[in-house]
Amino acid sequence: MNPDGITAAVGESRPRIEGRLKVTGAARYTADVPVAGLAHGWVVTATVSRGRIRDIDAGEALAQPGVLGVLDHRNARRLNPDAGQYFGPDRSLPLLQDEVVAYAGRPIALVVAETPEQARAAAATVRVTYDAEPHDIEFSLAHPAARPASTLFGPEADTGDLEAELAASALVVDEVYHTPEENHSAMEPHVATAWWQDGHLHALDSDQGPFGISQVMASLFLIDPERAHIRAEHVGGGFGGKTVCGPQLILAAMAAEHFGRPVRVALTRRQVFLATGSRPPTEQRVRIGADADGRFRAVHHHAAFALSPLAEYIEWCTEQARTLYAAPAIRTELTAVPLDLLPPCSMRGPGATPGSFAFESAVDEVAERLGIDPLRLRLLNQPEVGPVSGRPFSSRRLVACLQEGARRFGWAQRDPRPRVRREGDLLVGTGVAAVAFIAGVFPSSATITAETDGTFSVRIGATDIGTGARTALIAVAADALGVGVERIRMHIGDSDLGMAAGAGGSRGTTSCAFAIVETAKALREKLAGATTPVTASVDTTPLINWRPDEDRYTYSAVFAEVTVDVATGEVRVRRLLGMFAVGRVINPLLARSQLIGGMIGGLSMALHEEGVRDPVTGRLVTADFAGYHISAHADVPGIEADFVADYEPQDPSGFNGLGEIGNAGVAAAIANAVWHATGTRHRTLPISLGRVV
Ligand code: MOS
Repeated sequence: MNPDGITAAVGESRPRIEGRLKVTGAARYTADVPVAGLAHGWVVTATVSRGRIRDIDAGEALAQPGVLGVLDHRNARRLNPDAGQYFGPDRSLPLLQDEVVAYAGRPIALVVAETPEQARAAAATVRVTYDAEPHDIEFSLAHPAARPASTLFGPEADTGDLEAELAASALVVDEVYHTPEENHSAMEPHVATAWWQDGHLHALDSDQGPFGISQVMASLFLIDPERAHIRAEHVGGGFGGKTVCGPQLILAAMAAEHFGRPVRVALTRRQVFLATGSRPPTEQRVRIGADADGRFRAVHHHAAFALSPLAEYIEWCTEQARTLYAAPAIRTELTAVPLDLLPPCSMRGPGATPGSFAFESAVDEVAERLGIDPLRLRLLNQPEVGPVSGRPFSSRRLVACLQEGARRFGWAQRDPRPRVRREGDLLVGTGVAAVAFIAGVFPSSATITAETDGTFSVRIGATDIGTGARTALIAVAADALGVGVERIRMHIGDSDLGMAAGAGGSRGTTSCAFAIVETAKALREKLAGATTPVTASVDTTPLINWRPDEDRYTYSAVFAEVTVDVATGEVRVRRLLGMFAVGRVINPLLARSQLIGGMIGGLSMALHEEGVRDPVTGRLVTADFAGYHISAHADVPGIEADFVADYEPQDPSGFNGLGEIGNAGVAAAIANAVWHATGTRHRTLPISLGRVV
């Protein structure tokens, strides 16, 4: 309770403020918003992995009823070839510019018609011929085109004398792990509606950060950034696949300009698989050298991932190796392998999620071979300071996560021997994994107006992709202003609200909360004695300490219990428990819900998700939910997610992000549990029937 008798909203569990609108269908997602004079675009995608378009014969399509025209590289407007996003120039952005095809699934034409059905029917008649060239989609760490990955996130680690420490180790685990290409598959497929007015681009887009995407669109269309207005009010999931500027938006904007009217482009589920990012496949070699008592002497994690030559990308798998455990020598290496594949983009805890599968599996293999309890091994090797950085941790409650998780899970009763628990045809096993997930904030700006009716209008370009971010930020604003939540009017999801972190990198809510808290402070100073509406705005850019003298992370410990059917090889997860240290929790109900969602994503990755390409054509053959399996309700057991007490000292309110950490660690915990059940290590995901039997 604050001095005015107002109960603090932060820390209270409240349902999503827009929940009723969503479950009654009243909340309008991008494709639900009616727009007068709307035309519809249907995307045509390339069917070869590499080559040149010889011809696009749209004659039949153009003769179909309702068809307004077909855009392709011959009539589309020119776009800025130098536009870029996160990792610099991105040559996958300018669509329909030339006849070159760099991956199967690349959008190469857009059929525009009065109705989506007419556009779809006409698109089916478009005949494309190619001069195909040999493609290369065979990913491996040893690929001749492999090269060091970008160090945009900082240099890889190299401390101590790795080879000497390995040579002095009583045990060296040296294993290779694989994860497949994976797809985000958000519930709401990518869709955008765009129109132009007086040289301004207006668009409704299903994305994770309209401000950032407005900047990319302005650069691509070479217009003043102030002239790109993007809105994303309700978004049906993203998982990273909507952090980047999507083809739906680029094509809708091109077509709206070309045909002089609003155009909507909705991708099909298939097109989401074919044309919007992916998690690249990884191959990871982990070497860990340890003394006989379990102390680590050497840690070496070399991870490789695939990307496209069209754009730089980083799947930063090596973070765990330099953060989780102390060792006199730590080396990490990151290798990029350019192939004729769909350009990857961030997906559900990029880097940390596949990285922790490999690394925390290897740690478990050390425990196995030394005959040490895997939980005890992890506790034994905890660092005092950042093992590579040498800096203190701002807050590190990983031990609390491991210990409290072990207590709740009943770890002490575990028989360490593999393949000893059996229930009929089922082998039963348990496993654990730890995670450190990098945390921080991105610059954001907020505006708050104290209205004459006693309410406060908060304007911030935040995005709520289904997590409850809007509701969390209302609580933050209420506490920062010292009023009840009913007096907060929250406006989000619009690039016109100013620069703000998108819902990505586990930083959307923390970054926007920081801006709101600082703005509320400024407003309260101005408010004293004011009688008219008062407005304050703050941009947090100068307030962010970019080179902190502390390492800022969130942490989790994941515990899994699995059964493995000895007859069918079916792995089922029976229990999952995640203990999280994610700073001060804004809304436990929504935070827990988000973490459980992430844990289901991890379960799905461990057992089901696998993008498969036909080596002959290079095409993704699992481009739908019939071929690309995700966990269904029946696969998901009771999941427990809870928090240890934590407070992030670098944030004025003690907050940290929790967007992605739920995902990381789950695959390793499950793989470790499968080993415990069966005595067999699975170093390749997913752990599907064929791999178990
Ligand atoms: Mo997240 S994969 O940064 O949306």
